[in-house]
Amino acid sequence: MEALLVLLLLGVALCCVSAETEQRYRPFSSSSSSDDDGLCALMLRPLGYPCSEHTVKTKDGFLLSVQRIPHGKDALNVTGPPVFLQHGLFQGGDTWFVNSAEESLGFILADRGFDVWVGNVRGTRWSHGHVTLSVHDREFWDWSWQDLAQNDMVDMLSYVYTKTNSKVLFVGHSQGTIMGFAAFTVPDTVKMIEAAALLTPISYLDHITSRFALRAVKVHLDQMLLTLGIHQLNFRSDIGVQIIDSLCDGHMDCSNLLSVITGTNCCFNRSRVEYYLEYEPHPSSTKNLNHLFQMIRKGTFAKYDYGLWGNLKRYGSLHPPAFDLQDIPESLPLWMGYGGTDDLADVTDVKRTIKELRSEPELLYVDHYGHLDFIMGTDANTEVYDNLINFFQSRGQYRSY
Ligand SMILES: *[C@@H]1O[C@H](CO)[C@@H](O)[C@H](O)[C@H]1NC(C)=O
Ligand SMILES: *[C@@H]1O[C@H](CO)[C@@H](O)[C@H](O)[C@H]1NC(C)=O
Repeated sequence: MEALLVLLLLGVALCCVSAETEQRYRPFSSSSSSDDDGLCALMLRPLGYPCSEHTVKTKDGFLLSVQRIPHGKDALNVTGPPVFLQHGLFQGGDTWFVNSAEESLGFILADRGFDVWVGNVRGTRWSHGHVTLSVHDREFWDWSWQDLAQNDMVDMLSYVYTKTNSKVLFVGHSQGTIMGFAAFTVPDTVKMIEAAALLTPISYLDHITSRFALRAVKVHLDQMLLTLGIHQLNFRSDIGVQIIDSLCDGHMDCSNLLSVITGTNCCFNRSRVEYYLEYEPHPSSTKNLNHLFQMIRKGTFAKYDYGLWGNLKRYGSLHPPAFDLQDIPESLPLWMGYGGTDDLADVTDVKRTIKELRSEPELLYVDHYGHLDFIMGTDANTEVYDNLINFFQSRGQYRSY
C-alpha cells in the first residue's frame, strides 16, 4: 500500500514540475551566516538599527545564530528588559523584520525600549552549522520540534539569560509556541522566563483545517519521504517544488499557496511577496514534519513516537510521554493572540490548550486574522502588538519602559 503511494506520488511529481513554482522557490544563494551576510547585515543595519550576531552551540553540537538589537534606532543607549523572539516552522528570525519598521514586531519592540534577541533554530538559513556534521549528512536532519524545545530553545534562552543577567520575556509564533509550551513544562527552563506571549498558540493540532496539510497527512507524505530517504525538507529544492505540485495538482488551487496552507490572511502585503521569498521558506526536517503529523493524527501533545519497540527502548513505555500543560507553573504570566481564520491554530484546539493550563492567560482574539497576519499583517501593530506590549509593560519591574 505504502509502496504504491510512493510510486504514485513520485510519478505525479516527476511529470508535473511547474516552471513557475520552481522560480518562486529558488534555493538560497548562500547557506552560511557570517557577519557579512547574516540577518544583522541584511535586514537590521541597513535600516539604522544596532545589531550584533551571536553563536550559540547546542548540547548536540548545532551552531545557532542569535541576533541582538539592544535598543531602537533613535532611542538613547538605554537597554531595556530582554525579549526573546522564537519563529515558527519554515521560518527564521527574519520573520520578525520583513515588513516596515513601523509594522514589524522586532523593530517595534526595539523602538519601544526592549533588548531584542532573535532565535534561529537548526536547519534555517541562519543556523546551518554543526561542530561535526554537514547539511548533507542524514544525522544533521535527525530531529523534530522536541529537540528544538529541549535543546535549541533552552540553549538560546540560557545564553540570553546569562548575557543579560535577567529573566527573559518570550514571544513565540506557531511552532515557536509548541516549543515554548514544551520547554515551559521544565522547571529549569521556565525559571528563566519572566512572561510569555504566544501568537497563534499550538499544543494540539487535531482540528486543523488546512487543506494542504490535511492532504499531506492523508497521503502519508511524511512516511513516504522518510521511506525515500529524504530527510531535509526544503521547499526551495527541486524535490520540494515537485511535492507541492503533486499535492496541489487536481486537488486544490495552489496559486495562493500560503492561504492553502495557513488559511485566509486578511492583511498580507501582496506587493512584498517577492521580498518575503528572498528569506522564506526556510528548510526543516522530515522527522519534524512526521512529528507534527503524529499530533494531527493522534490529537496528542507528546514526544516523538518511535513505534512500540522504539518507544519502549527510549522512553521505557509503549507510548511516547505526553507534555503535560499542567506542569507549566501557574505563576508564569501568559498572553495569547489567536485568530478566527487561522487554519493551523484552530480555535477549538486553542480552547483546549487554555482549558488545560493552570493559569488564566490574557487573551486577544482577532476574528478576521489568519495564521500569518499575527507576524506579517500590515495592521498587526495596532491590532495585536500594542496589546502584547501592554501585557509586557504591566509586569511590575518593567513598568518604566
Ligand atoms: C551612545 O553610545 C555611543 C557608543 O557607545 C556613544 O558614543 C554615545 O555618546 C552614546 N549616546 C548617548 C546619548 O548616551
Ligand atoms: C506594502 O509593501 C510595499 C512594497 O514594499 C510598500 O511600499 C507599502 O507601503 C506596503 N503597504 C503597507 C500597507 O504596508
